[in-house]
Amino acid sequence: MKIHIINGPNLNMLGVREPEIYGKTSFKDYFSELQFQFKDVELSYFQSNIEGELISEIHESSTNVDGIVINAAAYTHTSIALADAIKILEIPVVEVHISNIYAREEYRKHSFIAPNALGVISGFGLQSYALAIQSFI
Ligand code: DQA
Repeated sequence: MKIHIINGPNLNMLGVREPEIYGKTSFKDYFSELQFQFKDVELSYFQSNIEGELISEIHESSTNVDGIVINAAAYTHTSIALADAIKILEIPVVEVHISNIYAREEYRKHSFIAPNALGVISGFGLQSYALAIQSFI
């Protein structure tokens, strides 16, 4: 099984960015942990700070993988274009968030991605990604 993780803006700064909310681990280090944890799953990941690049990545990866785990970061709350790209897909998409978006500012409580996702996992720190991968197995 192939699962592709797509991370949106500012998630390249994990480990440095607001560590009290997002933790002290970089995604690169956490990705190694995920590979160790899910030895039977072929994992890959892509990160971009650019909306259009994320959309192209969704289009391009959709034919090569069995599922997508996406943390669209702030674009979750703003991007109809990303939501539309996900709507096209025939493979399942699980939306993840490191923080609990429902326990934060009002503007984080709405997701344009969620209606087109199989499910949403939010608030378990980086472990949200592991729970999302687990949901595909
Ligand atoms: C986030 C939550 C978003 O509101 C925020 O803009 C992010 C990260 C999370 O993983 O908790 O960049 O998606």
